[in-house]
Parts: sequence; structure tokens; C-alpha cells
Amino acid sequence: MKVVYPGSFDPVTNGHLDIIRRAAVTFDEVVVAVLVNSQKKGLFSMEERIEMLQELLYDYDNVSVKLFSGLLVDFLEDENIDAIIRGLRAVADYEVELQLAHLNKYISKGKYETLFMVAGTDVSFLSSSVVKEIASYHGDISNLVPDQIVQRIYDKYKEK
Ligand code: PNS
Repeated sequence: MKVVYPGSFDPVTNGHLDIIRRAAVTFDEVVVAVLVNSQKKGLFSMEERIEMLQELLYDYDNVSVKLFSGLLVDFLEDENIDAIIRGLRAVADYEVELQLAHLNKYISKGKYETLFMVAGTDVSFLSSSVVKEIASYHGDISNLVPDQIVQRIYDKYKEK
């Protein structure tokens, strides 16, 4: 089974990597799909997000990283992907994710299922926004994102 793990990944966190690694052992193929959102200017450019993900995931033979724009279900159609993976951290995620899952099922006329993986307890409080907030105040993010990208995040705030 080929699945997609979509998101903004601005930047990728240990929570995302936890889901990707577990999806990689559960499914035949995992496509990490980074949403191109022209409305929302993120901290990292699309190219930087892709580069960081590729660097971190290069030794996973069944994981690839791609950009997508438009509707997620169109991406699934184009790439012959079977289902969507999303992570659930706390109850608060459920409401948003339930709507997204229903919408994706509705607009694909019932074709695409969303499968949920529960975030590890050690990363269940984590999000890209939390990482950015802590980094912007020079707080310690070393256990929240992979070592390889810690300095890249701090550098972004030095540039500003
Ligand atoms: O990391 P995020 O920001 O929680 O990811 C949200 C994402 C990218 C999964 C979602 O916004 C998305 O799929 N956007 C593409 C447009 C789309 O298909 N929306 C759902 C149906 S209206």
C-alpha cells in the first residue's frame, strides 16, 4: 500500500519524523508531501523544507519527498497513492482532522481513506509552531527537532 503523509513541515519536527518512520515500516511506500501555500508565508521556503526532509530521510528506501499544490486528493490521483496518513496528538487535533478526513472522502467521491497514527507520548505536545515560538526567544529546541536542523532554525531568527 502506498500512502501520503501531507503537511506544511515548516519546519519538520521530531513528531513528524516519528510518524514517517512508523509509516515506513507499516506501509510499502510513503510519500511525504509538502503543501505549496502561496497565501501563507512560512519561516522556510518550499525548497528548504524539501531539502531538510530529504536530508533526514535519505536512508529510508521506501520514503520520498514531494511538493504538492491544489487539492490533496488530486495529488493522490496523479501519484497513484492509496490513502492519507495523519498524526493525532491530542483530542484537539481530532476535530480538525475529522473534518479534513470527511472532506477528502467527500471530494474524492468516497475513494480516499484517511488513516490515523497516534503520536508518541514523548512528542505529543509538539508542533512546528511551538518549535518556532521557542526558537524565536532563543529557547532550547534541541530535543524537539533533529540535530541536523537545530542551527538552521536558530539562524532564521538571526536573519530577521
Ligand atoms: O501540516 P498541516 O498544515 O496541518 O497540513 C494541512 C494539509 C496540508 C494536510 C491540508 O491543509 C491540505 O491537505 N491542504 C491541501 C488542500 C486540500 O486538499 N484541502 C482539503 C479539502 S478542502
